[in-house]
Amino acid sequence: MTDQPPSRWADFFDVEAPTYDSYPFTRATTAEVDLLVDLLRLRPGQSVLDVGCGTGRHSVELAGRGLDVTGLDVSEGMLAEARTRAESAGVDVQWVQADATDFDLGRRFDAVVCLCEGAMGLLGSADDPLAQPLSVLRCVAAALEPGAGCVFTVLNGYALARQASPESVAEGAFDPLALSVRSEITLPDPTAPPLRERGFVPTELVLLFDVAGLAVDHVWGGTAGRWGRRPPELDEIELMVVAHRPL
Ligand SMILES: C[S@@+](CC[C@H](N)C(=O)[O-])C[C@H]1O[C@@H](n2cnc3c(N)ncnc32)[C@H](O)[C@@H]1O
Repeated sequence: MTDQPPSRWADFFDVEAPTYDSYPFTRATTAEVDLLVDLLRLRPGQSVLDVGCGTGRHSVELAGRGLDVTGLDVSEGMLAEARTRAESAGVDVQWVQADATDFDLGRRFDAVVCLCEGAMGLLGSADDPLAQPLSVLRCVAAALEPGAGCVFTVLNGYALARQASPESVAEGAFDPLALSVRSEITLPDPTAPPLRERGFVPTELVLLFDVAGLAVDHVWGGTAGRWGRRPPELDEIELMVVAHRPL
């Protein structure tokens, strides 16, 4: 047990925000949005909620294609970058600072995206590995119009398990019960308890989505830069879930 207050991802991303867009995994945004528009059959004027929108790379690209976009993120630093991006692009996006595990925007959307671990499975030091993703999914289900679709990309639990060793389990870096890894990132307060990143396997994703009131249509490979309508590879970084809220 620790007397420290729980660590939060917002503390990390507030610091990370100015340099986030220099990471190579952010470079495929246009192609990713092409696929999202196709998968979710998005038409200009429809509404999209981007959960864990970060610096707004998908939100702004979607708004540029005539969609009515709301970007939600817990980090004020990431949202500040997103606002600047939208201004530069000359598009309107509604930005909301909120926790993806506990939000109600008082309206419904024609589609929701939650990409590149936008909240789902990013465990604060006090978070339960089942309750956290379930809370995100329940909020997303409530925010979707009946019949509307959503796309998530989340960490691939197979890859996390295959990279783990008995030593990493003994040392607490990999937790096989929670299918999570201790994040090696440096928090602004280096004495704060570590954050954890949780992976998922396809069968549990189908079950979690179902419990939250969402029906999974596909689980595909979803590693940034390599999204596609294809089976996941065991060692790739991310899975993509395409789902909908049943009528
Ligand atoms: C890896 S970034 C992904 C950002 C963006 N979706 C992208 O594809 O570049 C994860 C984002 O999720 C946000 N986030 C983490 N936990 C969150 C939570 N509980 N609620 C809302 N946003 C959260 C972080 O602040 C960060 O902006």
